[in-house]
Amino acid sequence: MAEDLQKCFGEFVAVNGVSFTIEDGEMFGFLGPNGAGKTTTLRMVQCTSPKTSGMLEVFGMDASTHQREIKTKMGVVPQENNLDPDFTVYENLLVFSRYFDIPEADARERVDELLDFVQLTEKKDTMTDTLSGGMKRRLILARALINRPRLLMLDEPTVGLDPQARHLMWDKLKGLKKEGVTIVLTTHYLEEAAQLCDRLVVMDHGRILVEGSPDQIIREYIGTDIVETKSDPKTIVCLDRQQARYEIIGDTVQIYTNEPQHITDHLLTECDLTTITARAVTLEDVFLNLTGRKLRE
Ligand SMILES: Nc1ncnc2c1ncn2[C@@H]1O[C@H](COP(=O)(O)OP(=O)(O)O)[C@@H](O)[C@H]1O
Ligand SMILES: [Mg+2]
Repeated sequence: MAEDLQKCFGEFVAVNGVSFTIEDGEMFGFLGPNGAGKTTTLRMVQCTSPKTSGMLEVFGMDASTHQREIKTKMGVVPQENNLDPDFTVYENLLVFSRYFDIPEADARERVDELLDFVQLTEKKDTMTDTLSGGMKRRLILARALINRPRLLMLDEPTVGLDPQARHLMWDKLKGLKKEGVTIVLTTHYLEEAAQLCDRLVVMDHGRILVEGSPDQIIREYIGTDIVETKSDPKTIVCLDRQQARYEIIGDTVQIYTNEPQHITDHLLTECDLTTITARAVTLEDVFLNLTGRKLRE
């Protein structure tokens, strides 16, 4: 779908030659810290921001020449909530349907169906600025579905939501996927990506660092388990002798391994350690390992 895709803002390269293919019917994630280039990449796919260079095809059509056709088959949940505050929940959806030339009677039917789907029927006559964060996000999801898109693009769909609202959003997205909708999302909730995405890429500084299924990425870059213990010089010497892969974080040391029992036994017998914990590796470990622990913006 995209090959060597680039986006510059003046001298600044926001997306620096990314290539990816999104398969029909899959859930595909863009992960990365703030400023990685996720939104910029999505906006090019959504035909709302022209690419600087590279190849970009959506539904097999060139994104720079077929914007109209592409947009009619696509639904977009942007990073910022951009509902119209002068309209009610119902009117927001109905007004939006006019961009797609949906006949009014069909549109009304579709709006009712979608309000039911996102559990906002009771709020249909409410002005949007009084909605909670979770309700706003769900309304925008409903709005993105008005044209029955084949491809749904979601930029941080669950940012700032409480766990209940987040899980409800996940359920809705899983339901849509079951119906065959292709879903692309960005997130920096790693658990979200691990739960939802069939495949994902981790981006930083405008580049793709890794690509694969969550499990693949975890196994390939860290191993299955992390053994943690206090970092003191003796332990480090012991680990080096063992040629273990580890990272020192503050006063703890994390050892990456596929054989946690072996490492744990070794540390206990050879290094006189008493407090050791072992746990499964999460996508968050990979993310921090790849993108570093420095704070962003
Ligand atoms: N319109 C713009 N003009 C100039 N710089 C921009 C613009 N949009 C984004 N950027 C810059 O491009 C980089 C990537 O931004 P963005 O794609 O929004 O990152 P992400 O969504 O991963 O947080 C950031 O450094 C951001 O400041
Ligand atoms: Mg963004």
